[in-house]
Amino acid sequence: MSEPGSIPPTSHEGSAPPEGEVGDERPWRNLERSAVLVVDDDYGVRDTVSRYLQREGYDVLAAGTLSEARAHLAEHDILVVLTDITLRGGENGLDLLREVRHAHPDIDVMMMTAHNDLQYAVEALKQGAYDYLTKPFPFELLRAAVARAVERRRLVVKSAMLSQIEERRAADEENFEEFLVSLATIIDAKSRFTARHSSRVSDLARLLAEAMAFAPEEIEKIALGGRLHDIGKIGIPDAILDNDGPLSRAEFEVMKRHPVVGDDLIAPIRTMQDLRPMIRWHHESLDGHGYPDGLLGSQIPVEAFVVKVADYWEAITSLRPYRDPMPLELAARTLRAEAGTKIPAEIVDTFLRAIENVPIALPAAASA
Ligand SMILES: [Fe+2]
Ligand SMILES: [Fe+2]
Repeated sequence: MSEPGSIPPTSHEGSAPPEGEVGDERPWRNLERSAVLVVDDDYGVRDTVSRYLQREGYDVLAAGTLSEARAHLAEHDILVVLTDITLRGGENGLDLLREVRHAHPDIDVMMMTAHNDLQYAVEALKQGAYDYLTKPFPFELLRAAVARAVERRRLVVKSAMLSQIEERRAADEENFEEFLVSLATIIDAKSRFTARHSSRVSDLARLLAEAMAFAPEEIEKIALGGRLHDIGKIGIPDAILDNDGPLSRAEFEVMKRHPVVGDDLIAPIRTMQDLRPMIRWHHESLDGHGYPDGLLGSQIPVEAFVVKVADYWEAITSLRPYRDPMPLELAARTLRAEAGTKIPAEIVDTFLRAIENVPIALPAAASA
């Protein structure tokens, strides 16, 4: 006879379960939520434990043998296993413990032992059991032990899910980066006069960043910033983008939106935060007359100036329908004229030194 409010000691009588045993029957057969698996060959124990845990709000599966337990483990999402040590027919809960630790290392196993099983309980702890309860045990002890194990398991599942989400997001962000690079190529290809603009800006920005002795990972970021600096042109009407002539004042006002459009595009992407200053501020100017924010001097990050110089040089040394590419000497003089007013002089000097004899910096014809 069990004590009131407690689980009875194991009888090991192996009494046959009556019809409708907890775990054998319908309501918790098709579990959608994770469950506690109760394994005991003694029907009285497993029924009492199962019904108690059910009343506590858990989904419960019950098994009287190791093969039933294995079937539940294979078919259901189990949170915690609560198993007797000495089972009928020479079966042992320690075998189940070993199997679960091997096949489902994230499931905690708690042992239910009789007093004469104590040496097995110690062995179970050595083999990775989460805890053990000695029969007869009060319901309160069972409730607390299962709650601890379930909470621990939920935390493990949650942290595994979070790391999966993190991996997925990293993969998505990588895909998004590739997508944006393709988009930049498409935008440039709209006109044969700008077909190689962003890739040349990227190469020139990399050259300057190397000459300025940026760290290797910064150089990669700056090269990518150059590649994507005009990505916001996706939000500019084709009629303006496709216009091969100089822009009217009204058209230019629309075109001036592209740094903000580009910044808005990448702002939600965690891994692209470092690119935002180059995309938003590559048309800012030392004297405060740039756009879109009219920043002044030291408010403009140096990497934005790196892209600005590369962008400026690429534009003046490229063919446009309304003008030839500037010859090298004239382009150098034109850029130098911006030094100290629009662009920090030392950046201009470093750039002009860095591009000497570099083919990518030479005036370029439009692609056919
Ligand atoms: Fe731009
Ligand atoms: Fe540009």
